[in-house]
Amino acid sequence: MTTRVFTGLKPTGSLQLGNYLGAVRPLLDLAADPGTDVLVCVADLHALTVDHDPALLRARTREMATTLLACGLDPGARLFVQSAVPAHTELSYLLECTATHGEMTRMVQFKEKAAGSDSVRLSLLTYPALMAADILAYDTEVVPVGEDQRQHLELTTALARRFNARYGETFVVPRGSTPPATARLKDLRDPRAKMGKTGSDGAGVLFLLDDPDTAAAKVRRAVTDAEPSLIHDPATRPGVANLATLLGALTGRSAAEALVGLRGSGALKAAVTEAVVGALEPVRRRYADLAADPAEVDRVLRAGRDAAAPVAAATAARARAAMGLLGVG
Ligand code: AMP
Ligand code: TRP
Repeated sequence: MTTRVFTGLKPTGSLQLGNYLGAVRPLLDLAADPGTDVLVCVADLHALTVDHDPALLRARTREMATTLLACGLDPGARLFVQSAVPAHTELSYLLECTATHGEMTRMVQFKEKAAGSDSVRLSLLTYPALMAADILAYDTEVVPVGEDQRQHLELTTALARRFNARYGETFVVPRGSTPPATARLKDLRDPRAKMGKTGSDGAGVLFLLDDPDTAAAKVRRAVTDAEPSLIHDPATRPGVANLATLLGALTGRSAAEALVGLRGSGALKAAVTEAVVGALEPVRRRYADLAADPAEVDRVLRAGRDAAAPVAAATAARARAAMGLLGVG
């Protein structure tokens, strides 16, 4: 029996190292196991939950697919664009009819993103139902995601169980897979905040396509402290701890181990720069090759869509029938 793995990434900006360590690399590790069967979607519908520019969304969707392939995602894995598979929105509505308003308003990400805005798109509130639809459409067992998505995943699990209890066994109940150390990489300039594609001015965010000089400059300006001894203590020394986590993750060690033998934040930053540049270089090179042939990326996305769509359509049909929707044909 193969294990079905699924994840989604929303194209609201360029992929950054937090995405890579929290979701992309765990996904690639799972994909390398011959006992898994992988589906990945560029969640463009999720990008519509906040103000967006159509031309930019189109460009970022393509960029994200290309970057995922450049990171080593096998073109044979089913990589597709969410909006190309209509069953996601159909299932999303059925799950909105399973969820409650209270559940949705309790989502931390909704509260954070809605705070201070006087014009919140309704889809920002209902978005976890769409994410649940993405996951449940494929009978997914394992979902590699970063820490910030854990609440949405718990909701997905709750909705799947509730639906099954009300209408009969329909959905596979999924579980998350979050690597503990790199589940939440922090912004280099603000090591108490999550590193994110959007939200900051980008000075503390390492993008996968940053050139070596840009990446080195961002690491150099990372917030640390003046203590010469280096210890891993996220509570009192968050800047050092974040760099140590990053260095450890890129060199296959724990954060504490990564600090052994280093003295002072200058030495730590030099080691981080070398590791980051070394990790990003092959991605940048492969990205340039792939971007030179957009027709090939389109071919991968089309093949992914063609493979994913019948699976999602069958799940949606099952859910419709279970809920008592007659449907004819
Ligand atoms: P998003 O950019 O919100 O679409 O996130 C895509 C994936 O990357 C999700 O699984 C997130 O949980 C994960 N992710 C985003 N930012 C970080 C971060 N700073 N640290 C770890 N994982 C992250
Ligand atoms: N909501 C996720 C995020 O903001 C992206 C996403 C969309 C996702 N659909 C998904 C993640 C399905 C995992 C599974 O990061």
